[in-house]
Amino acid sequence: MGRRFVFPAQVRPYGQILAIQAENNPVTSPLLPTYARADISFERGEGPWLFGRDGERYLDFGAGIAVNALGHAHPHLVKALTDQAAKLWHTSNLFQIPEGERLAQRLVENTFADVAFFSNSGAEANEAAIKMARKYHAAKGQPERFRIITFEGAFHGRTLATIAAGGQAKYLEGFGPKVEGFDQVPFGDIEALKAAIGPETAALMIEPIQGEGGVRPVPGAFMRTLRELADDHGLLLILDEIQTGIGRTGKLFAYEWTGVTPDIMSVAKGIGGGFPMGVCLATAEAAQGMTLGTHGTTFGGNPLAMAVGNAVLDVILAPGFLERVERMGLLLRQRLAELMDRHPGVISEVRGQGLLMGLRTHVPNTEFIAAARRNKLILIGAGDNVTRLLPPLIITEGDVAEAMERLDATCAAIEAGQPAVAQQGAAK
Ligand SMILES: Cc1ncc(COP(=O)(O)O)c(C=O)c1O
Repeated sequence: MGRRFVFPAQVRPYGQILAIQAENNPVTSPLLPTYARADISFERGEGPWLFGRDGERYLDFGAGIAVNALGHAHPHLVKALTDQAAKLWHTSNLFQIPEGERLAQRLVENTFADVAFFSNSGAEANEAAIKMARKYHAAKGQPERFRIITFEGAFHGRTLATIAAGGQAKYLEGFGPKVEGFDQVPFGDIEALKAAIGPETAALMIEPIQGEGGVRPVPGAFMRTLRELADDHGLLLILDEIQTGIGRTGKLFAYEWTGVTPDIMSVAKGIGGGFPMGVCLATAEAAQGMTLGTHGTTFGGNPLAMAVGNAVLDVILAPGFLERVERMGLLLRQRLAELMDRHPGVISEVRGQGLLMGLRTHVPNTEFIAAARRNKLILIGAGDNVTRLLPPLIITEGDVAEAMERLDATCAAIEAGQPAVAQQGAAK
């Protein structure tokens, strides 16, 4: 439809790339141009370090948006993946997958849950959670209860149902009618929440800390109110721990800080340490509608993913690991507060928990992130003009000190008015 194919004047570095020029949408790569990519690529990683094709070494405090929980090329993960790769990659869910049974068992033993469904991504873990909540009520003879209440600023993924759950206009725009059944209320507004609960409400869905939304923690008291309201009205409580889970806050899951347990929980990102996978965990009660044939995925829980997931848990559940994450989180928070004191003209607020920290800045976060990158520090954007620090969970005190030096240099450059080339988008 109106596309013109234009040969580039010069051959680009990584293969011959056709410059495709669609009307009003010029692109210079065969990749669909949906991402604002920084002009940098990496060829290898080691622990918290990334080695760029530009010959530079970068300290990775983004971890692939909270994914590389154990850093890059962790020997235990590399071994688990390569050992499994030499044996068996995929069989489909038509057969038993003992590695998956084992991972599910370990997740169940270490959480509120009784059962697990493996997916390939976070959005698919949320899709499973949403379907499960609806099916729960249908199985109990109330199929009209299918609506789910979510919170402003939420991010639950990019499928049609999860953009409806997230409710953000920028992600819904142009994709046809919003999937029916999601009601959104202001973040933290108990009265609005109570008013939104009706006879069709099936569940409440929330991230314990809004990640993409700008590192906004849900207060423990609000979480307890959610649980009470859910119990009073026969609703299911769904926690999206895709970003907060697998040790990111210093507990295996962030809900453990609140004393509140969910009925359903979605997990992804860190659980694969970089291998694409996710999981929807639930109590047997909440999962009662998900009977034979009600849900499925070809790739979910395949032997390769399960080998890596088990290897990630080997490390994260080892005695002392999570305590160390908590200590590193406290150290990072303290150092960031000091950074703000030194650079009040650049940083306006420090937020977050554990190793999910956010800096709100006076300058646009795109500018801050670009300036940090020039100081060889990788950071990630979020909503509300926040920059996220999401280092691998294996960072040391030395890594925190390195990051602080680079952050000081970043702030100093901004204070000196050095121009910053904004290249990275604010959020995904
Ligand atoms: C809280 C939360 N939910 C869901 C998702 C979607 O996960 P995925 O991108 O793997 O589909 C994300 C990803 O950033 C997330 O942070």
